Amino acid sequence: MAESLPRGPNILITGTPGTGKTTLGQELAVRNNLKYINIGEVAKENDLFEGFDEEYQCPLMDEDRVIDELEDTMVEGGNVVDYHGCEFFPERWFHLVIVLRTDNSILYERLEKRGYSGKKLQDNIQCEIFRTILDEAIESYKENIVQELQSNTPEDMEENLEKISTWLNQLTAS
Ligand SMILES: Nc1ncnc2c1ncn2[C@@H]1O[C@H](COP(=O)(O)OP(=O)(O)OP(=O)(O)O)[C@@H](O)[C@H]1O
Ligand SMILES: [Mg+2]
Repeated sequence: MAESLPRGPNILITGTPGTGKTTLGQELAVRNNLKYINIGEVAKENDLFEGFDEEYQCPLMDEDRVIDELEDTMVEGGNVVDYHGCEFFPERWFHLVIVLRTDNSILYERLEKRGYSGKKLQDNIQCEIFRTILDEAIESYKENIVQELQSNTPEDMEENLEKISTWLNQLTAS
């Protein structure tokens, strides 16, 4: 089957767990009349897992089946996708890739508050220190569609919503 290009803009919100993807993504969708899609929830709702990650004691997501599940929706366009990774999605799906960044001390507190501890907490902090997701995004998409945004305070979030809405308007105008 030929691969279709989306008929409208799609935005990917990515970043280390706890950087605020869901908080921003849901609000962005409401304000711009877009559909919000949380990849983890799609996998759970449709039972799209394969095997088990012994190290982290959690099921492994079946990425190929997640992509098949979402293909038609993504081709329709008008989606905000929320996931802590970005390299396995088809590049053609996205017109804008937002990478949220959070200062270590702030991220540490947010994850601790959530009940993360030990290796899980350390690995996530390290992921942010090493800018793992930002590098993954730059390697996976054209550099001019990847935008790194700070996500430390509610003011940051408000600014980010405005910036993204402006970029979105430019996309739909062109
Ligand atoms: N810009 C911000 N300023 C202050 N607090 C924020 C900001 N963004 C998110 N938060 C808070 O940080 C916590 C984590 O946010 P959120 O759940 O949206 O992160 P996430 O990136 O979706 O995490 P995960 O990948 O684990 O789903 C929440 O308590 C949220 O209220
Ligand atoms: Mg989330």
